[in-house]
Amino acid sequence: MRIAVVGSGYVGLVAGACFADLGHDVILVDNDQQKLAALRNGQVPIHENFLPELLGRHRGQRLTFSDDLKETVALCSVIFVAVGTPPTESGEADLSYVESVAREISGGINGYKVVVEKSTVPVYTSEWVRRIILRNGSDPEMFDVTSNPEFLREGTAVTDFLFPDRIVIGCDSDRSAEVLREVYAPLTNGSYYQRSDAIPQPDRASIPPPVIVTSTKSAELIKHASNAYLAMKISFINAVASVCESVGADVNQVVHGVGTDSRIGPRFLNPGIGYGGSCFPKDVMAFRAVARESGYDFRLLDEVMRINEDQRQRFLRKVHSALWTLRGKNLGVLGLAFKGGTDDIRESPALFLVQALLQEGSKITAYDPAAMERAREVLPSGVTFANSAYEAAHNADALLILTEWEEFANLDLNRLRQELKYPIVIDGRNLYDPEIMAAQGFTYYSVGRIAAHPDGVSAPVLKNGKKA
Ligand code: UDX
Ligand code: UDX
Repeated sequence: MRIAVVGSGYVGLVAGACFADLGHDVILVDNDQQKLAALRNGQVPIHENFLPELLGRHRGQRLTFSDDLKETVALCSVIFVAVGTPPTESGEADLSYVESVAREISGGINGYKVVVEKSTVPVYTSEWVRRIILRNGSDPEMFDVTSNPEFLREGTAVTDFLFPDRIVIGCDSDRSAEVLREVYAPLTNGSYYQRSDAIPQPDRASIPPPVIVTSTKSAELIKHASNAYLAMKISFINAVASVCESVGADVNQVVHGVGTDSRIGPRFLNPGIGYGGSCFPKDVMAFRAVARESGYDFRLLDEVMRINEDQRQRFLRKVHSALWTLRGKNLGVLGLAFKGGTDDIRESPALFLVQALLQEGSKITAYDPAAMERAREVLPSGVTFANSAYEAAHNADALLILTEWEEFANLDLNRLRQELKYPIVIDGRNLYDPEIMAAQGFTYYSVGRIAAHPDGVSAPVLKNGKKA
């Protein structure tokens, strides 16, 4: 099939590359000329596992790039819209990019087209997109507007796309549903998974994935409700972690006990410094706004957001309780991305914390395997960037772990202790076992677990073994 994907960001680029890997001819459209030039030149603008392989495989062949939306629409039968939907001041989704894309699509309709919302949008958007296309002179028989939400996590987006838990197709006509089924047929009939060059299968893949066909509105709601539910799960466990801290319980043990109930499940129950990223914060807010507009006061979502913000403040208080004063202290920071496996720093709790610590007069030396270039653009010039986790720890008064990168969970603890001025680790992602850290001579603070000290003593101990 000939497929257009409008918007080559984190979602559009992955979707386009994956559609090409399924055997479709894909044109990626973007209005950012620099990005298009970079993509044509073989650059990969984002850090995403397997994306370089897929772009390398299909670039210039099944995957081409264009800035001409109208011409692309004329050439394709399915048009996926994946432009950004940033939040407005009031928390609603700003749909102006979606609207302008809809207007342009209208000019290219020269036969039956299926327009697919891939961006996360409020429940009434498909109707608006339809109205805009009609207003601009298109024949109502010549197009359908559908919703096919993405559930891609950054860092594992390619695998999530090709091995989805489910494919949700929101359509109000059989004709458009048929077209979307055909787009995903290589996944749903299993043929993709038999190919020797298929992207490797992750654990827990449901093969072939089920297709869930719904009305367009239901599909729009499925996306918002899924993200809000996942954010709620994280806020819930963060609230439980706070109770654990108060009573001296261990949240990891609680998570194990709670998550093994198959009705609850263990995933997205990792406590930390709160969720960030381009989706959860924005989507919870937008869903809240949509509900309010439709007459339902979804106050549960306010609480999800409040707990999330509070989690960052609690972490700051933890840094204070570990170090007393912050002015002039050297802090090593591991992680700037909003989560491990990505270079994305949008709404990153790590960046928020770095900025707050800088404001309190701390000196920061930070390391992130992928996000330093992007972080450099937004952090003040006083932040030093290190080339490794150990370099960030060198001579620091304490080390802060802010992103759940796998490499941060496997550090050489002996070396780390030697690098640090004081062996204090404040871990916002629970990457280590408190007992092991204490046995290795660290004073170790984490989330939802009591602080661990070498030899069980409560005062911080210097690396030479003396009490501070
Ligand atoms: C996507 C979705 O669109 C958003 O709704 C979802 O919740 C998160 O993922 P993302 O891919 O992360 O957004 O956005 P971004 O990386 O900003 O990419 C959007 C792309 O669209 C950019 O390359 C931008 O240049 C392009 N764009 C934007 C257009 O081509 N035309 C426009 O009018 C606006
Ligand atoms: C999310 C959704 O998971 C995906 O389905 C959706 O379509 C896009 O938004 P993403 O934002 O890329 O994906 O990452 P995700 O893995 O969901 O993590 C979001 C945030 O929650 C990160 O800051 C992460 O650190 C945090 N998180 C996640 C936790 O704090 N605890 C967890 O158990 C899981």
